Amino acid sequence: MGVSLRNVSKEFGAARVIEDVSMDIPTGGFAVFVGPSGCGKSTLLRMIAGLEETSGGTIAIEDTDVTHVEPAERGVAMVFQSYALYPHLSVFDNMAFSLRLAKTPRAKMREMVREAARILKLDDHLDKKPSQLSGGQRQRVAIGRAIVRQPKVFLFDEPLSNLDAELRVQMRLELTRLHRQIGATMIYVTHDQVEAMTLADKIFVLKGGIVQQAGAPLDLYDDPDNRFVAGFIGSPAMNFIAADVIGRDAGDVVLRTRGAEAHEFRAAVADPGLATGAEVEIGIRPEHLRLDAAGMPVRVEVAEELGDVSYLYTRMADGTEIIVERHGSRDRLDGETVSIATDPRHVLVFDRQGQRLR
Ligand SMILES: Nc1ncnc2c1ncn2[C@@H]1O[C@H](COP(=O)(O)OP(=O)(O)O)[C@@H](O)[C@H]1O
Ligand SMILES: [Mg+2]
Repeated sequence: MGVSLRNVSKEFGAARVIEDVSMDIPTGGFAVFVGPSGCGKSTLLRMIAGLEETSGGTIAIEDTDVTHVEPAERGVAMVFQSYALYPHLSVFDNMAFSLRLAKTPRAKMREMVREAARILKLDDHLDKKPSQLSGGQRQRVAIGRAIVRQPKVFLFDEPLSNLDAELRVQMRLELTRLHRQIGATMIYVTHDQVEAMTLADKIFVLKGGIVQQAGAPLDLYDDPDNRFVAGFIGSPAMNFIAADVIGRDAGDVVLRTRGAEAHEFRAAVADPGLATGAEVEIGIRPEHLRLDAAGMPVRVEVAEELGDVSYLYTRMADGTEIIVERHGSRDRLDGETVSIATDPRHVLVFDRQGQRLR
């Protein structure tokens, strides 16, 4: 196993910021920790790096317990949001820095830096100073500095957050290619669920220092364990509607929205705990709603037309916002009242604690 955490916790004084985290990241895997600001992503990464002591539990890298091993001895290399380059050193010398410290023979050092520069398309920039490079190139130097150390595990802490949107997309692709090329274990921290979805083979969604769910990107998207994950993964976000269970029919649960203009939805949910009278929330993704005269009336406040797709920002009678995604139609619906419907298998049900009922 590339990286294994067992019951890891972290306290800063009285504040518990990581709570009983266990995970396994296979050798060569690309794991992403994602969650809102302050949820503990960086702390967890820094604990794996050895920059933060653990308050409880164990951390293993390549099946060796490193919980109390010095950072430099763990075989990890970290890349930060702030590139942390030496401004007075050339690109070559920045990348060679750790090799020099390790007294790597000159010829070997040159070879390793040139190889990293080739992978990162920095060949033509080796003599420049960081100030002569673009943001994307600087971040590539920071990644190059990690590559030459040939770590067992690469640790990335929001490395693309300082770049503009277009460059972020480009660097995202480069990171995926880099991972395929060098095949090392990588752990990547971000607050951006799109980065998580596109980079990871396994995502760990964190909130309040607790792993809410771990899994392949599309498994989290299609089959979230709770309301937080359902709402966090996916853009535009899943729609949530308060509803009451009013019975069962032909294997479906029948639910009724609250308020004056109540409307019925059906959900393909088998959970026997879902009793008549239960107060729940239903979740429906924007792309699973369609216009249907027999559906629930909503008022379109704004229609965003993006050409291939349009998003209708609508409101139910009680004010709940519902986003509807449409493809291939360009009729102007701003200000109109439309009716929307979905299929029972696309209606997710969450209990009052936000746990998913399947
Ligand atoms: N050195 C520290 N001392 C005290 N509290 C800290 C320290 N570092 C982080 N925290 C707290 O731990 C929590 C998690 O922080 P962090 O891991 O940086 O979150 P994230 O990277 O997800 O934004 C936050 O509440 C933060 O204020
Ligand atoms: Mg952070």
